[in-house]
Amino acid sequence: MRRIRQHAIWGHKGTFVLAATGSAVGLGNIWKFPYITGENGGGAFVLMYLVCILLIGVPILTAEILLGRYGRANPISTMEKVRKESGANRLWAVIGWMGVCAAFLILSYYSVIAGWTLEYLKAALEGKFVALDGDQSSVMFEELLADKSRLVQWQTAFIAMTALVLIFGVTKGLEFAVRLMMPLLFLLLLILLGYAIYAGDFAAGARFLFSFNVTDITWRGALIALGHAFFTLSLAMGAIMAYGAYMPGNLAIGKTAMTIAALDTLVALMAGLAIFPLVFATPGIVPGEGPGLMFVTLPIAFGAMPLGIIFGSAFFLLVTLAAWSSTISLLEPAVAYLTERFNFHRISANLLIAGGAWLLGLGTVFSFNDWAEFKPLWGMTVFGSVDFVTTSVLLPLGGLLIAIFVGWVMKRELIEQELKLDSPHFRQVWYGLLRYVSPVAVLIVLCAGVYPVLKKLVGLE
Ligand code: PHE
Repeated sequence: MRRIRQHAIWGHKGTFVLAATGSAVGLGNIWKFPYITGENGGGAFVLMYLVCILLIGVPILTAEILLGRYGRANPISTMEKVRKESGANRLWAVIGWMGVCAAFLILSYYSVIAGWTLEYLKAALEGKFVALDGDQSSVMFEELLADKSRLVQWQTAFIAMTALVLIFGVTKGLEFAVRLMMPLLFLLLLILLGYAIYAGDFAAGARFLFSFNVTDITWRGALIALGHAFFTLSLAMGAIMAYGAYMPGNLAIGKTAMTIAALDTLVALMAGLAIFPLVFATPGIVPGEGPGLMFVTLPIAFGAMPLGIIFGSAFFLLVTLAAWSSTISLLEPAVAYLTERFNFHRISANLLIAGGAWLLGLGTVFSFNDWAEFKPLWGMTVFGSVDFVTTSVLLPLGGLLIAIFVGWVMKRELIEQELKLDSPHFRQVWYGLLRYVSPVAVLIVLCAGVYPVLKKLVGLE
């Protein structure tokens, strides 16, 4: 194997937390979390989600950061190194490959959806939400989805924004960007929360999010909560492992993982508390709108509110920043691999990977119009297929393998060495959860996600 080029390490202590939180906080928090909470019983779902984050998310997040920091390289070279030093079978290196490939695949469709937020930012700034009614808002969204050239234009813009940051490298690009973006993101969120309290029906929104009903605790809800906990923490996608490689050695990994999970959860809850009060204060619209909540319902709410142009624009700027810091973390693993392993220049590595993701992303763009009837994988569109393969297969499978590898295969001394700054109590609880609880829980999610598709495949349905 060729020698791996020496990795950069971030200069500021806080950069790792900002960058990893930037990866974690994304469309998952602001677009998906509020509507799946609405659909699955509010408070009961929030509770199940918190349990999943704490018992399964944090242990695997810790394991993934630990692998990255020990390896100090891109996920593929990291896994190659760690499995060798643990005397483990070559096949374990697949964890690195799966992560890099999954991140690339997610990037392809994530940047298309992130592109919609740019369109909505523009529309908000132009005052297009003013006095918008329900039908007009649906038509506006449908017209966007039918307009290939506009979709491609925004998708291209988003991928270009992502590559632009990484072309400047790990410290001058990535570190610089997250140190600017993340404080701004939190500031915008606070402002919007204040606006929701002032202009919205805050009590109704909070009641909707937190009203607790024991009968809402269901298997289905638990599965969705666990799947979402994984996605929102960016687990098993190579992103966190790649960032872990740049983490200074004097930071406690477990504590850092808990901070990231707490911030990520805080943003999701704050986003819910900023969105629902506005929805409830607008006559004629209802929450629980599913995926259309952000792109159809919210514009109506902003259009009907005082100063809606300013706050609507602030909201879509917030979503853009959140998505941007996530796409950066999706592009970085493959770029790091090409630059370290094959000595690619950062510019060519970025152009190659970003270009590839762009090309594949066209499949997602066409899934909403020309190819809406093209179902390459068991009745799913290209977008549906890539989403299924990543979030329902690669993500839980990767999480399962990471838990088993770090919990059962990796040399204990290597683990202890990385976790020496965390308390013995944390280490003990963490190891127990990682060995026994995480693999079982993740296996259940994996089976539950794949089962319906397999059933269709063998013709049972
Ligand atoms: N965590 C991001 C979100 O919640 C998505 C993501 C997944 C980003 C995997 C990077 C890696 O939107």
